[in-house]
Amino acid sequence: MILQNETTGLFTLHTRNTTYQMKVGDYRVLLHLYYGPRLEGDLSYLVRYADRSHSPNPNEAGDNRMFSLDVMPQEYSTCGVGDYRLPSLELELPNGSHTANLRYTGCEICSGKYELEGLPAFYASEDKAETLVIFLEDAAAHVGVELYYGVLEEYDLITRAVRVVNRGTEPVYLQQAASLCLELQRPDLDFITFDGHHARERIPSRSPVRPGVQSVNSNRGISSHQHNPFVVLCEQDANEDHGVCYGAMLLYSGNFEASVERNQLEDSRLVMGIHPYHFRWKLEPGAVFTTPEAALICSPCGFGQMSQQLHRAIRTNLRRDPYGRTRKPVLVNNWEATYFDFTADQLVEIAREAAGLGIELFVMDDGWFGNRNDDFRGLGDWYVNEKKLPGGLGALIDRIKGLGMKFGIWVEPEMVNEDSDLYRTHPDWILNVPGRVFSRGRGQLVLDFSRQDVRDHIYHALTEILAHDVSYVKWDMNRCLTEVWSALLPSDRQGEVYHRYVLGVYDLLERIHQDYPQLLIEGCCGGGGRFDAGMLYYTPQIWCSDNTDAVDRLGIQYGTSFCYPICAIGAHVSAVPNEQNGRMTPMETRGVVAMSGTFGYELDLRRLSQAEKEIVSRQVAEFKAHADLIQWGDYYRLTSPFDNTPYTAWEQVSEDRREALVSIVTGSTRATPPFFILRLKGLDPNLTYRIDGGETLYTGAMLMTGGYPLPVSLMMGDYQSLQLYLKAE
Ligand code: GLA
Repeated sequence: MILQNETTGLFTLHTRNTTYQMKVGDYRVLLHLYYGPRLEGDLSYLVRYADRSHSPNPNEAGDNRMFSLDVMPQEYSTCGVGDYRLPSLELELPNGSHTANLRYTGCEICSGKYELEGLPAFYASEDKAETLVIFLEDAAAHVGVELYYGVLEEYDLITRAVRVVNRGTEPVYLQQAASLCLELQRPDLDFITFDGHHARERIPSRSPVRPGVQSVNSNRGISSHQHNPFVVLCEQDANEDHGVCYGAMLLYSGNFEASVERNQLEDSRLVMGIHPYHFRWKLEPGAVFTTPEAALICSPCGFGQMSQQLHRAIRTNLRRDPYGRTRKPVLVNNWEATYFDFTADQLVEIAREAAGLGIELFVMDDGWFGNRNDDFRGLGDWYVNEKKLPGGLGALIDRIKGLGMKFGIWVEPEMVNEDSDLYRTHPDWILNVPGRVFSRGRGQLVLDFSRQDVRDHIYHALTEILAHDVSYVKWDMNRCLTEVWSALLPSDRQGEVYHRYVLGVYDLLERIHQDYPQLLIEGCCGGGGRFDAGMLYYTPQIWCSDNTDAVDRLGIQYGTSFCYPICAIGAHVSAVPNEQNGRMTPMETRGVVAMSGTFGYELDLRRLSQAEKEIVSRQVAEFKAHADLIQWGDYYRLTSPFDNTPYTAWEQVSEDRREALVSIVTGSTRATPPFFILRLKGLDPNLTYRIDGGETLYTGAMLMTGGYPLPVSLMMGDYQSLQLYLKAE
């Protein structure tokens, strides 16, 4: 609900459990008053007015030294005119100044959720969301700034975006335009970021907000393996079930920065948006720049509720999943089975094994096109390698379909190898700075996706592939950007290339989505290097990590689950010893871990023993039986893999709380282990549950308060697992 009080200048945004309030203050400065658990009333009293030495006062304030932009909570911070904290907006004006000064001029409130042209954004039906637009103006710069707020009440979600309009007669350059500025008038917060590297993405890292600035960012051109564009600020004693916490995500897949500053007055300011590094956007007179969308959530009671609300919102109001809530086919992917070295017959053999085990989709990974026999050649030549696949894609697909399976295919549209027909024909299509020699990443170069002609070429290549009966595409992206410069842009627009690249990727993905609405696209970027809410708008699921080891995945999937829903997390059972770390884990455990994701297989099924095949067949059947509960149920992290607990446990509970699936994976074993009792969550205390159809009946209260004793046998051997299926009587 959005409320405006014209007399007091208050704007109040209520969601089911939270309230966000701001106010047009003196001199038409837009102040932030409050964000947190739901509250009624005018919270203006929270703003303190104080004369602080070395904090200047705006000209309009005259002799009033109690009013300073440096001291008061700003809704969208500026720079160069008296607020020395983190800026949200930095303009470079024709006179060379770097300032921005904003005053309120008006607002608009309407039902429904705003859209952003060319950018991913949450969507909602007219009756499920409201939009507030606040108009600000920098009169001296002739620049208008429009702050967009989307309120998705039921999910406690407040989305934000900003449009900057040049109303002057000369060009203005944007040096920074953040999507989000959030003032929290308290210092006692923790900052949680999700960090890592290739094959170890989104590991939570928690530290107190210290005086000064802490930030995470990416300047790699992708949202990155190293830091995720989702961060949390929370009370210092917050945990899964307790404490106020704030989640902030950027729906963006390129360079970003999320910074929190604890300032001299012990307030905390979070600013999130496109990374200012090498960002300089030219705004011609009349032109508009739109920032990517950011989304905020506040949970009054811990991370659990925060994640569940985010999962709901992302599942149904961000992803555009051709399957909707219907179960997706269980897949097998040939990458870790064959790498580049395969023939059509071998693929068909793997598919035949798969079909016999209940697997429904065969995905052909890298190596099927051009001269692609290793990392160094072929990218860009999106036509079939007839030596590997005689008769072309059509012939292979017919054979796969003959087994009763669907067919999926791997592509990496944004890339090219030097050894490719595409590069030989268009060497000028890559990102590269004139006078410099380009860097290689995985032996490949990045196509300049800011260019329409490049995108058009790739679009046509993709449509040739999609002319076949393809129901799934894995859209990969395997290197970071370097030498970022576009041949089609003048020098004063080169600061736009990073962002234009991302817009180009979105543009092509959108064209494909519009043309093939039934096609399921799985995003991938060397695993989880572009696992962000922006990509999820186009690719409803993303390969979570190239690390398929079940034990490492516990941590990766745990961190990922803070923001992203289970149905979006690409997870497969792979072979042992694991390709990435050599670890041995039981097949059962690999299944339990992959089941808390999209679920599939990525190994050579021909090499499995009969006993292993029976396990696979059981796993597939189990996943099919519980897919809706697993992917759409409320997700509870029962323990953290980073605590000292000798096991990791999590749980999915159906909306009506009549069903639950509990998964437990142990770490390395020890002799004579203590007894462990696992306390479940989210059940109905008054309902009676049966576990795996057993004799004993437990009330929800018993299992949540008394707990469930884990069998001692679970600790026999390393990395054991157990799944408990609870059904209410
Ligand atoms: C990336 C992906 C892998 C696989 C390879 C193919 O590394 O993350 O899953 O598709 O590329 O080259």
